[in-house]
Amino acid sequence: MKEIIQKDFEIYLGAEILEKLSEILINKEYSKIFILMDTHTHKYCWPILSPYLVNYVTIVIPAGEANKTLKYAEFIWEKFQDNFADRNAVLLNLGGGVISDLGGFCAATYKRGIDFINIPTSLLAMVDASIGGKLGLDFKSIKNSIGLFQHPKYILINPLFLKTLPEEEIRNGLAEVCKHAIIDDLSLFEKLAKKAELNWENAGNLIFQSLKIKAAIVKKDPEEKGIRKALNFGHTIGHAIESYSLINDKKPLKHGEAIAIGMICEAYMSHQLLGLSGKELNEISHYFLSRFPKYKREINFADLEDFLKNDKKNAAGQINFSLIKKIGKVKIDINCEDALIEKSLEFYTKLSA
Ligand SMILES: NC(=O)c1ccc[n+]([C@@H]2O[C@H](COP(=O)([O-])OP(=O)(O)OC[C@H]3O[C@@H](n4cnc5c(N)ncnc54)[C@H](O)[C@@H]3O)[C@@H](O)[C@H]2O)c1
Ligand SMILES: [Zn+2]
Repeated sequence: MKEIIQKDFEIYLGAEILEKLSEILINKEYSKIFILMDTHTHKYCWPILSPYLVNYVTIVIPAGEANKTLKYAEFIWEKFQDNFADRNAVLLNLGGGVISDLGGFCAATYKRGIDFINIPTSLLAMVDASIGGKLGLDFKSIKNSIGLFQHPKYILINPLFLKTLPEEEIRNGLAEVCKHAIIDDLSLFEKLAKKAELNWENAGNLIFQSLKIKAAIVKKDPEEKGIRKALNFGHTIGHAIESYSLINDKKPLKHGEAIAIGMICEAYMSHQLLGLSGKELNEISHYFLSRFPKYKREINFADLEDFLKNDKKNAAGQINFSLIKKIGKVKIDINCEDALIEKSLEFYTKLSA
């Protein structure tokens, strides 16, 4: 079993996490154990976990981002209260990022905070959402607008859960795995570029290398005042494209698909502004174009302008970017001319034609 022990939380990865969980629950002597899952993780992941638990209360919510809401937060708090949860109770979040964001939020606010343990079951949650302590829910259609920072006590990762994760969800997480490589680790990028596909059997080491990067950045800057912004590479343009697609497409782009496009555009901007080599720009572009669906629409700056200008990462009215000097070397707080953003979108359109 691989591990990362930090002051606020511990991460364990491997098939042994199931026994590890039993051990933690016995040692901590929690007064009550709650398990939050969605309808999919209840069907596919709960049968793997349940043999390791005794005396618990399950809470199941419908799957999907549409349920990361106050309504389901109330539903979860109600379950805590109806089952007499006291401050020594614990919540296990068994699921993807929706479950860890929402469950973490409910646990961190119930009776001013009970412990929670993340058992991520999507690739995106294993390398990204379950780590870093950002918790919250969507409010009046604005994503993650209500929330707080609080770390889980433990993050227990078993790649076996990926066995039932749909292909497009694997790809969704892969975009973040690759983002971590691009901002911090050339050798990880090279490994990913060589791998035809990532699955539950071969993913363990790559997941560990990737989450180690996020954990180290979060440790340096827990509340995103500085270097944590590095994790936004590809996300300034990516989020704007994601929002644009949500309004304009019948089947909107998934987060990972949108940030894959964002990373190509922002790599182009890095080439123009920070001297990222043409060779590395091509490698990054090729990686995403060969693995992610191409966006059918031709998008330009005017389509994205409002989204870009409303981005919460901006300061003093300037659109803020995290770009790279080379693969593995990131630079934060870069402002770019609108014309360069337009050119980066043209670059993507030409490549994906
Ligand atoms: N807190 C953070 O730092 C952070 C970072 C990134 C993303 N997020 C949040 O995470 C969410 C996205 O996470 P996600 O992509 O995991 O979404 P998700 O939780 O909706 O999971 C995606 C889909 O996969 C299903 N699923 C999960 N594990 C499965 C398994 N093992 N087998 C079969 N199906 C399975 C889910 O039921 C769901 O339908 C968003 O709400 C985003 O805002 C948070
Ligand atoms: Zn992301």
